[in-house]
Amino acid sequence: MTNRAVITGTGAFLPRKVVTNRDLEAEIDTTDEWIRTRTGIRQRYIAGDDEPNSYLAVNASRRAMEMAGVNPSELDMIIVGTLTPDMPMPSVACLVQKELGAKKAGAFDLSATCSGFLYGLSIADKFVRDNGRMKVLVIGSEVLSRRVNWQDRTTCVLFGDGAGAAVITGTREKRGILSTHLHADGSLWEFLAIRGLGTAQPVTQDVLDKGWQYIEMSGRDVFKNAVRALESVTLEALEANHWTADDLDLLICHQANMRILDHLRERLGLAQEKVFINIDKYGNTSAASIPIALDEANRAGMLNPGMKVLMIAFGGGFTWGAVALEW
Ligand code: ACO
Repeated sequence: MTNRAVITGTGAFLPRKVVTNRDLEAEIDTTDEWIRTRTGIRQRYIAGDDEPNSYLAVNASRRAMEMAGVNPSELDMIIVGTLTPDMPMPSVACLVQKELGAKKAGAFDLSATCSGFLYGLSIADKFVRDNGRMKVLVIGSEVLSRRVNWQDRTTCVLFGDGAGAAVITGTREKRGILSTHLHADGSLWEFLAIRGLGTAQPVTQDVLDKGWQYIEMSGRDVFKNAVRALESVTLEALEANHWTADDLDLLICHQANMRILDHLRERLGLAQEKVFINIDKYGNTSAASIPIALDEANRAGMLNPGMKVLMIAFGGGFTWGAVALEW
């Protein structure tokens, strides 16, 4: 009998500070109306100096482990999807491992931008299918506010900070993760990038003057490619599981932009209540957006045994992917 991977606990954690669109109006040349109608965002959470990525990740993890009834000492692996680690070395995952006291767990970060949580789930799925006794903690955690140019109104209004986590364990029942689908197209990287502060463009005055420490984005190109890729990976996952769009009980999409979600819903002919939306509260939290949404849906009682759930994401790289599961 084959092992399958199931999600037994979810958790999320947000920084203390909320920044509303009205707050931004006071700082830059924008309006609440522009932000709401173009993106669906009303507010976002912004981490303070004492709330680094690993702090958010640890707190989201504790909530997920509490729900799963799993102790840190039982964890075998910790995977963190992030593009905004505390520092280049060590990984956020190692800092989480230390803070939780997860002594026997391996730990690593993975870099797949907004698709990071789904890439992490996909790896966890492989571990657990191989050994059904494994307990894997998958986290998506971001402090994007530190990589946003707060003078650039075309990007700074979009992003927020936060973390979400899930505990993955094995089952012999025919449920849990059914299929995973991961894709990338590195040829389009320049449409969404942070060029500086890596080894190609290290910290120099020139790099800082060019603003290469910040997120740069060609909004329309991202939009076009996101819609196309999200639709295609959804159809791929539906076909792999012999589902139609009507069979889906809940679509949890990376919360990048309300208009992307609306476009997708229309293209797939999905009812409004089948598409989970919380972008209004958090903005785009990159790798954290799907696990935060999953936890919110879970705690709101929207996920019942036997429900067909599809999670899809798209982000810089470009990367995109889907995870289909039966709850
Ligand atoms: N407030 C007020 N005006 C603004 C703002 C702002 N915050 N930002 C831009 N504008 C202005 C522009 O300067 C421009 O003015 P102009 O016509 O006088 O030149 C006008 O609004 C239109 O700008 P566009 O960039 O053409 O606006 P667009 O309708 O394309 O919307 C947006 C921009 C929301 C970024 C859109 O392109 C988009 O949603 N792209 C998807 C990108 C995305 O979601 N990225 C997230 C990261 S990737 C991911 O997670 C998938």
